[in-house]
Amino acid sequence: MKETIIEIRNLHKSFGTNRVLSGVDLEIFKGETLVVLGGSGSGKSVLLKCITGLMTADSGSIRLLGEEIVGREERELLPIRKKTGILFQGGALFDSMNVFDNIAFGFHEYAKDMPQDQVEAEVMRLLEVVKLPDICDKMTADLSGGMQKRVALARAVSMKPGIIFYDEPTTGLDPQTARSIYRLMNDLGQRLFITSVVVSHDIELAFTIADRIAFLKDGEMVFVGPVDELRKCTHEGVCAFIGPFYRAGMMGHKNEEMKGKT
Ligand SMILES: Nc1ncnc2c1ncn2[C@@H]1O[C@H](COP(=O)(O)OP(=O)(O)O)[C@@H](O)[C@H]1O
Ligand SMILES: [Mg+2]
Repeated sequence: MKETIIEIRNLHKSFGTNRVLSGVDLEIFKGETLVVLGGSGSGKSVLLKCITGLMTADSGSIRLLGEEIVGREERELLPIRKKTGILFQGGALFDSMNVFDNIAFGFHEYAKDMPQDQVEAEVMRLLEVVKLPDICDKMTADLSGGMQKRVALARAVSMKPGIIFYDEPTTGLDPQTARSIYRLMNDLGQRLFITSVVVSHDIELAFTIADRIAFLKDGEMVFVGPVDELRKCTHEGVCAFIGPFYRAGMMGHKNEEMKGKT
């Protein structure tokens, strides 16, 4: 029996006359990787911000871990937010801090009583997980884009969240580096039993890591289902977006081979 971890019903959000989300429905299950796919400006980031409570929806309902988010005050959301990790576009690392301090940030913020040697051990463990040992003292500004994403991933999972949200995790990376990030996301999801919600316009990413894809078009979910069903979807906007190669199954597959590899 699938357990629903996020339930979105009839969600609306406008900015003045710009209707960005028009009655979005979406259910996300525990342990799955769900990718919200859509073109630029389709409302993906707005949807993610509404789910994470960083933006207030106009109407509708979002139940996250059983708690209603819509209409709640920022401070009421803190305990819920602690159970989630967020990786935003650009990684949002602190440029003025080195790698160690960036990752240790969450422990200092949310686990103030944790002894320093334990914090150090945790940070080291996380750097091993993201395959970046020995870079603690480096400033994040001096790292390559791919390394910055790995550090940001380590930080996002540091608090052992049940859910992790990613906004365009591969933007700005070359295809090979982007693939190493997908593998890592896949690996983290499985190893740490995390539910992953990814918003992206990266079709290869979606076809590679998603258990299910939700396609957002002009503020509406026009398709929700597994990758193979998306290939068969006849919605005009979906067909135009994913293109003939992906439709024909010539590219992208969430495959067994990838599991367990990083
Ligand atoms: N804070 C904001 N104020 C006004 N309009 C916004 C704001 N954030 C997003 N929008 C508008 O919402 C629409 C969807 O944006 P966004 O969710 O960022 O798209 P994307 O799918 O590329 O992530 C765009 O038209 C954008 O201009
Ligand atoms: Mg966006």
